[in-house]
Amino acid sequence: MKTVISRDPSEAARSVARSIAEFIVQNPGSLMCFAAGDTPLSAFAELIKLQDSGEVDLSSVFYVGLDEWVGLGRETRGSCVQVMFDSFYDPAHIPADHVRVFDGLCVDTEAEKARIVDWIQEHGGKIDFTLLGIGMNGHIGFNEPYAGLPEGCIVIGLDDTTKAVSPKYFDRPLPVERGIGVGAGELKKARKILLMATGAHKADIVRKTVLDAPSPSVPASLLADHPDIAIYLDEAAASSL
Ligand code: PGA
Repeated sequence: MKTVISRDPSEAARSVARSIAEFIVQNPGSLMCFAAGDTPLSAFAELIKLQDSGEVDLSSVFYVGLDEWVGLGRETRGSCVQVMFDSFYDPAHIPADHVRVFDGLCVDTEAEKARIVDWIQEHGGKIDFTLLGIGMNGHIGFNEPYAGLPEGCIVIGLDDTTKAVSPKYFDRPLPVERGIGVGAGELKKARKILLMATGAHKADIVRKTVLDAPSPSVPASLLADHPDIAIYLDEAAASSL
């Protein structure tokens, strides 16, 4: 796995944004899949700056949501759809017909999974580029420990660590139990994978992802043998490597 270590989170965000912009310029029409955690937010802001300065047209590609908390919709602050529209799709002026995201309020999760799989099929049958964070338990999207490498989309009971971390996203207590998202095997089919982690609290899980043998207990590590994967870190997240 290629490892790119930046001095601080701001520099990591600029490096990630440059890498994404370069891919988009070289591959218009691609299907992109971006994570909605806290980590990528600064990279989205940098990407929008690159568009503002004319270096990339973020509407020249298409987007698929990575995941969503089942039961939450856009009106809930901290839902993935709220974060993605308010921090990226809207400020980047992405046309509505270039984006399909999971509806956490859907009544039929099987139909919702199929709606996202159809979108992937319509755009060449696979995701071209994915930007992923790494959860404190090593999860990518809502691919929790021991979920393996499912293709297509998943609905999954959330791991205790994910539930314990979740309040940081919300402005009131929300009893999240399940997630819906793109499966790790589907993400692994992407042409290019970019992992991003910043902060000392990620140092241990980064070490397990990068240095330890791939293990189903650390979902991010299952991506390590992908032919085009890079992990972008700040010095704090890289401090145990
Ligand atoms: P974070 O989330 O960026 O908010 O730390 C990481 C993740 O769970 O993907």
